Amino acid sequence: MMPFVNLTAQREAYREELETAERAVLDSGCYIGGPEVKALEAELADFCNSGSPDAGKKGFFDGKGGETRAITCASGTDALTIALIALGLKPGDEVIVPDFTFIAPAECVAFLGGIPRFADIDSETLLIDPESVRALIGPKTRGIIGVDLFGQVADFNELWEIAVANDLWLLEDAAQAFGAKYDIGVPPYSDIITSRACTLATISITSFYPSKPLGCYGDGGAMFTSDAQLAEKVRMLTNHGSKERYLHETVGLNSRLDALQAAILRVKLRHLEDELKVRRENARKYDEFFAEYSARASAGAGISGASAGAKIVPQYIEHGCTSTYAQYTVLADDRETFIKKLDKAGIPHCIHYPMPLHEQPCFRGLAQGSENRNAIMASQKAVSLPVCAFTDVDFIINKLRSVL
Ligand SMILES: Cc1ncc(COP(=O)(O)O)c(C=O)c1O
Repeated sequence: MMPFVNLTAQREAYREELETAERAVLDSGCYIGGPEVKALEAELADFCNSGSPDAGKKGFFDGKGGETRAITCASGTDALTIALIALGLKPGDEVIVPDFTFIAPAECVAFLGGIPRFADIDSETLLIDPESVRALIGPKTRGIIGVDLFGQVADFNELWEIAVANDLWLLEDAAQAFGAKYDIGVPPYSDIITSRACTLATISITSFYPSKPLGCYGDGGAMFTSDAQLAEKVRMLTNHGSKERYLHETVGLNSRLDALQAAILRVKLRHLEDELKVRRENARKYDEFFAEYSARASAGAGISGASAGAKIVPQYIEHGCTSTYAQYTVLADDRETFIKKLDKAGIPHCIHYPMPLHEQPCFRGLAQGSENRNAIMASQKAVSLPVCAFTDVDFIINKLRSVL
């Protein structure tokens, strides 16, 4: 069976560069922090600030401006936790999160004693629905976490308006979207600026989990902000609340990126734009196939098997968004039959995510979210297909043709 994400093929493609970088770190005697981590942080920030002359300057939203800075840490989950601490989350504070995503954003809020409030998603983009966010704002609301789900940036134009109008902070969870692009509409929306994921909120975070579009060979993560004071706070929190050795200004964590992971990420970052191009081309091929399938299904011709012609619709990518396609996800009306067909054809698949967060046992006491019809619908229909730059999507589509 082919892998869902082909990390061994990726390693083979960059073997020489990777082994040189890995050996240099192992021979250096410097394994935590140091020059590799520093260089990676500078390169991550440069990447985020590139793309258009004003990319990265989220000041268009909040009036503060400034270049985005990057601070690495030990995982995407740690990045969320540290960002929430830096933003001043206190027990009992409410934070609005999407109901349909990986657990981490809601989990980190709850872990710090906050209360996650679950917003519904848009039925087509599968991203947090600003209208649902508005409806959840109350006196205890402190912030909103927008998740760039499957690599598509959430509706930050709207989320910023809501945050500014209600004096809330905004956190961008770009764990799946490092490298995505997004058109910022600058009020009065006559001027459009193409910006990058990780530059769109008070603080943004990403994950370098191995299967992410930019992944290392273990756990890793990073935080991004254009606010210099916040950046300093975040950096201290990653290192026991300390700027100066054995002087602890605040209580912090040990959440640092290893030099070895930094060196690996620096190699992979050099190839990221090319890989993202291939991911987008793979997604385009799937889009074309599913459009053709839909046309055949509505004509009732050439469709095989039980529940023939049941609707299968890809996640809708909004105009102005360039997804990283961390996942290529479709909504299948008859998921059970679709999955049986994928299994028959030997096509790997995953369910991201099998239940809305409000139904998770750990959140049941919160008694909110059962009204989120789209999150419930997506958890019943979502299926992800292999899309990474080392996947032979033509081969998969040929197999799909034989079973759909
Ligand atoms: C949306 C989202 N947020 C946060 C995380 C957590 O990242 P990590 O696994 O690096 O802790 C993930 C990981 O899958 C994710 O998908």
